[in-house]
Amino acid sequence: MALLNSEDWYDIARDTNWTPRYVSEQALFPKELSDVLEMPLELLETFDEPYKVTYRDYVKTQREKDVGAYSVKAALARSQMYENASPGWKALLQMHFGAVSFLEYHSVSAFARMTRFGRAPGMRNMATFGSLDEMRHAQVHLYFAYEYLAKSRTFDWAQKAPRTDNWVIISERHTFDDLEHTRDAISAAIMTNFAFETAFTNLQFIALSADAANCGDFSFSTMLQSIQSDEARHAQIGEPLLKMMIDSGRKAEAQKLIDISFWRCWKQFSALSGTCMDYYTPLDKREGSFKEFMNEWILDQFVAKLEDMGMEKPWYWDLLLEDIEVFHHAQQLGIYLYRPTEWWHPIAGTNPAERAWLEEKYPGWNDTFGQVWDVIIENIRAGRLDSTIPKTLPMLCNMHGLELTGVPGRKWNLKDHTLDYQGRRYHFQSVVDKWIFEQEPERYAGHLSLIDRVAQGIVAPDGVMEHMNMAPEEYGIEGTNYAWVEAYDDALTTRRATGT
Ligand SMILES: [Fe+2]
Ligand SMILES: [Fe+2]
Repeated sequence: MALLNSEDWYDIARDTNWTPRYVSEQALFPKELSDVLEMPLELLETFDEPYKVTYRDYVKTQREKDVGAYSVKAALARSQMYENASPGWKALLQMHFGAVSFLEYHSVSAFARMTRFGRAPGMRNMATFGSLDEMRHAQVHLYFAYEYLAKSRTFDWAQKAPRTDNWVIISERHTFDDLEHTRDAISAAIMTNFAFETAFTNLQFIALSADAANCGDFSFSTMLQSIQSDEARHAQIGEPLLKMMIDSGRKAEAQKLIDISFWRCWKQFSALSGTCMDYYTPLDKREGSFKEFMNEWILDQFVAKLEDMGMEKPWYWDLLLEDIEVFHHAQQLGIYLYRPTEWWHPIAGTNPAERAWLEEKYPGWNDTFGQVWDVIIENIRAGRLDSTIPKTLPMLCNMHGLELTGVPGRKWNLKDHTLDYQGRRYHFQSVVDKWIFEQEPERYAGHLSLIDRVAQGIVAPDGVMEHMNMAPEEYGIEGTNYAWVEAYDDALTTRRATGT
């Protein structure tokens, strides 16, 4: 019997909406879980994904992707890539697997919620594939990390991270729970599939994959590419929904969801990918600076897409452009100084040649962040290693959960944006973080950052490491054993000899 072409049966087969008789439509699809804005069902049923895929074709393609990623890994298993990698690349891998594996795994349930509560059959179909994709992403991450476990116990964090209250993990979880897990299916799709996956995953998976290939880490590079190839499909869930929101007079609500999500993702990617690209990746292997990637992959492409769809840039665009110049540099300082609190082994990435690159890519770096590094260098060179690790805990932002930072040195501009709500004072890094809180205070008010937990006596100051589930053997140590400052000894000797 001849098989029908998929286009002859696809639309009929995925049309799985019916009128429930035993329960009400509202009981089956409560608006809090399905669509708080209550778009008309007739409109939602017009959801038509531009890229249609059948289960049979899906499995075939995914299988090929898996075979590709796993066979590169197997072929390179004895390559000693990890042993020979620079300390920065090791730090990047350690941080990546601890920080990203659980996000992939959590995304399985984010898509599953869309599959259950989405009211459009096409959306449910795409979200089902999305869940399967994220399962694959989580598995490939855990498998690759498991292979590295024999080389460093830091890779245990691929498994362990989600069950800890490490400050980095709290920050990530707070962000992505907000976007992916605690809203109705349509809002979650706009925030996750449109703002997060369309805008940011390119940066993590294409830009980082290019750096990985340059470093000779072909198995990591192939793994990242294989993951990214699924993202284009995920983005398709957001776009038709966004169009429906605009068409049905809900543009302002859609814009707010995008503005919140975009900023929250920006903070995460800046702290994690920004530091990896501008400090951890070996200098001669960098494809471009984080700022250049942001400009190309996010600012240009995402804005074009937003405008194409009839949406506006987020209202804080000018602040974002300023933040791109500074936020990850400030976070890098914090990450380096608070290294015992991280599961990976951070490096400075600021030897003289690296500083020259930073100054070229971010003019003014030496007069600001460079000044703090000067003090760190002085302390290390004088053997005062203790002085390079702060004795007190840092202030954390009550929205992004990372260190509340500003610009140091000659352009000092640290400001704590506070807000009093129901008898509690909240601290924010920026007006945008504060604005997000103000949109729905009751959503965020109950959360306690690590510092709040100490301030409220829930965690004793000397019990912080234990609270973060960090055994002493897991405390982050300096990735180069301070070898990077040697270059400054040479520079100083030359300067003395030449009298310059
Ligand atoms: Fe994923
Ligand atoms: Fe995804």
